[in-house]
Formats: sequence, structure tokens, C-alpha cells
Amino acid sequence: MRIDKFISECGVASRKEAARVAKCGGVTVDGAPVKDLSKHIDQTKARVCFMGRELSYRRYTYVMLNKPEGYVSATEDEKFPCVTELLPIELRKMELFPVGRLDKDTVGLMILTNNGPLAHSLLSPKHHVTKEYFFTAAEPLCDGVEDKFRDGVVLADGYECKSALIRLDRDRASGIITLTEGKYHQIKRMIAAQGNRVVTLERISFASIPLDTSLDRGEWRYLTEEEISHLEALANKQ
Ligand code: URA
Repeated sequence: MRIDKFISECGVASRKEAARVAKCGGVTVDGAPVKDLSKHIDQTKARVCFMGRELSYRRYTYVMLNKPEGYVSATEDEKFPCVTELLPIELRKMELFPVGRLDKDTVGLMILTNNGPLAHSLLSPKHHVTKEYFFTAAEPLCDGVEDKFRDGVVLADGYECKSALIRLDRDRASGIITLTEGKYHQIKRMIAAQGNRVVTLERISFASIPLDTSLDRGEWRYLTEEEISHLEALANKQ
């Protein structure tokens, strides 16, 4: 594998950035500085250091995106732009896809990966992965809504939601909802079942990983080693 491809797949820098760092001697292979990153290495054996840090080869790539409004959580769509279009070309080539869906008008935390088994496992109902959303509603929510969410909101089509947590702000027209499932338009339908309407919705955490608030809408970053290990541990839980 080419050295620059290896570095970008490790998620520490784009190929362009890697080339810049290599020019200043910041890339070494088995202890020797390398300036030409088009050279090939055996990624399972070579010891590659990038700016003094040894890189370990990862088969999969994981990124966090702060999804803006107007994008669909898909890799292809005939009508609307897809979240993957917000990623640079080299990441698009890696065929990342979103782990779970957000509505076109929902913003916030979205994780993308090309690790299909991990995504499948995290979305499986048996893992009860938590997702937190900040919402604003058209009207203040009624007294007792906390108990209704805890006991399981019944949607208009008769589906009984799993127990959920709602923490209201002082105005009772906004707050945070924590879910352990992900049905179509779930929060909008849970709020509609209270005779109310969601005005804005933002996912602020997924599987206890908070949205990185240094990312503006539309910006992305690679997941950290800790975040990846956390997701892998969750996905591998029996
Ligand atoms: N619930 C919704 O209604 N929409 C989303 O995008 C996510 C959760």
C-alpha cells in the first residue's frame, strides 16, 4: 500500500497534509525519514511514524459529522444532497455510510464508517444504544409528559415506544430526549402524540459519544482512538 494512502486511512491526515509533513521530515518508516509518500509498504509490518506518533493500521475508517439541514442520510439520492457529499473525495472513495438515519431537517451528530458489521450491530435493538436529541417544540409540553415518556409513548399508528427520558427546560417547550431505539421520525411522532409539534431537532450524542462542538455544521473529523474502541466494545457486546 502507498505510504500516503496508509496515513490517510489511519485517519491522522489527508494525503495532501501527509505530503506537507513528509517534506519537513515528519514521516518515518522503520525509523528512516521518507519524503516520497508514493512508495509502497507492507502495512501489516512497517513501523510508520507521523509527527512522532506511531500509526497502527486500521481496516476501517470512522468519522463524526455535524450534519447540517437539507442533507439526506444516504450515500445516493436523486433529489437531495447526501451527507457523504460533505466529505473530501478521498473519504468518499472509502465508501463510508451513515450509522443510522437523521431526517433531512435534523442537524447534529452523525457517525459514518465503512465497517458494515459494526454499524449493523450498533443499530440492532438488542444493543440499546442511546441517542440524545435537543428539541424545540411549538408549544410547552403538558404536565406529566416525563412519566408518559418513561412508560412508553403510544404513537398514532399504535406502536408503543420503549421507555425514553425527557428532560424539559424551564420553558417546557424545549429540552433533551434520550432514546434507545430509532424508529422513523420517532421524536417528531412522540411529540405529535402529545398534541404538539417539533420545530427543531439536533442529535447531540450517539452511544454516549457527544457531538464535538468545535465542528461547525457541515464539518467533520475522524473519530479518536478512544471513541473507536468504545464503539467496537459496544458492538461486540453479546
Ligand atoms: N427522530 C426524528 O423524528 N427525526 C430524526 O431525525 C431523529 C429522531
